[in-house]
Amino acid sequence: VTKDFHSDNILAASPEVLDAIVRAAAGPASSYGEDEYTTRVRQRCSAIFETEVEVFPVLTGTAANALSLAAVTPPDAAVLCHDHAHIERDELHAAELLSGGARLLTVQGDDGKLTVDGLTRALAGATRKPASLSVTNATEGGTVYTPDELRALGDFARANGLRMHLDGARFANAVASTGAAPADLTWRAGVDLLSFGATKNGAFGAEVIVVFSRELANGVREVWQRSGHRLSKMRLLSAQLEAYLTDDLWLRNARHANAMAARLRDAIASDVEIVRPVQANVVFVRLERPRAEALLAEGYRFYDWGLFGDGVYRLVTGFSTQPEDVDMLAAALRGRTGGGACPPTGDEGTGP
Ligand SMILES: Cc1ncc(COP(=O)(O)O)c(C=O)c1O
Repeated sequence: VTKDFHSDNILAASPEVLDAIVRAAAGPASSYGEDEYTTRVRQRCSAIFETEVEVFPVLTGTAANALSLAAVTPPDAAVLCHDHAHIERDELHAAELLSGGARLLTVQGDDGKLTVDGLTRALAGATRKPASLSVTNATEGGTVYTPDELRALGDFARANGLRMHLDGARFANAVASTGAAPADLTWRAGVDLLSFGATKNGAFGAEVIVVFSRELANGVREVWQRSGHRLSKMRLLSAQLEAYLTDDLWLRNARHANAMAARLRDAIASDVEIVRPVQANVVFVRLERPRAEALLAEGYRFYDWGLFGDGVYRLVTGFSTQPEDVDMLAAALRGRTGGGACPPTGDEGTGP
């Protein structure tokens, strides 16, 4: 049982991923991503996205984002992104460092989402010429773009000569939430590069840059290698990614994480204010400060999300969150301790 709802990355890793690491450590393999594991990751991604892709495994989401953006944004240009974007708020502007000087230009938008109207205004007032657009799905607001919403952003990017990057630290949650084809949430909507997350959803530490536009692959490869991200023992990452993408583990885990968030929402909705639509695995609630402090004193862990207003807190479920964890938290949030389990919702998913 855990009382820690800080983030999905407090969780460990799926057994399939751990087994894959141990197996990959057993014998020799080619180095620098020329190994059979990385080849299979490329093949699996090509099958999942229904097109031939290039893949570049990395250890962190920050690296996936910054390398992707550096490859498509010259030093004197800019990246358009949401004001709440992780690349803006939490990565110390890594994309600016790795691009050698590009700037992030932020755009407002409700519920963590960008709109064509907002982007059009931002472009008109831009102090530097944007070369790229970065979109996050699932968003930092816990919401999810539909394929149509993404296509509108992709059309805007194309019309304005911008390359489109998707921060998919929680891409699996977005796919699980919409039921859309991964292709419809990426290249068919105009996405050129995806930071495909795994660490938050069952890997121990592995993300992969998926490049949909062939002509961009060499640029990504270059910055990936020059910045020290081309591991000699790449199989450490690729074995995790291969397991993650086998037998739909990534989707099973995300469906479970999303179902746990829905269970939490349903259990507390009549007693606690929920400040954003719950569409993935994140629930934002407003609490009286003494209530929040009492929960912390009881050992619960979660972030204060002042960005969304006073008294707003973020609760994140994950691939191994148990229904009992959620029910205990729900009871505590409702101000009742002990048992307090809510009836099962019947949609716990198929994950652990
Ligand atoms: C939306 C989003 N993008 C990127 C990242 C970066 O991941 P990492 O912490 O692995 O650099 C995170 C992690 O919290 C995230 O939430």
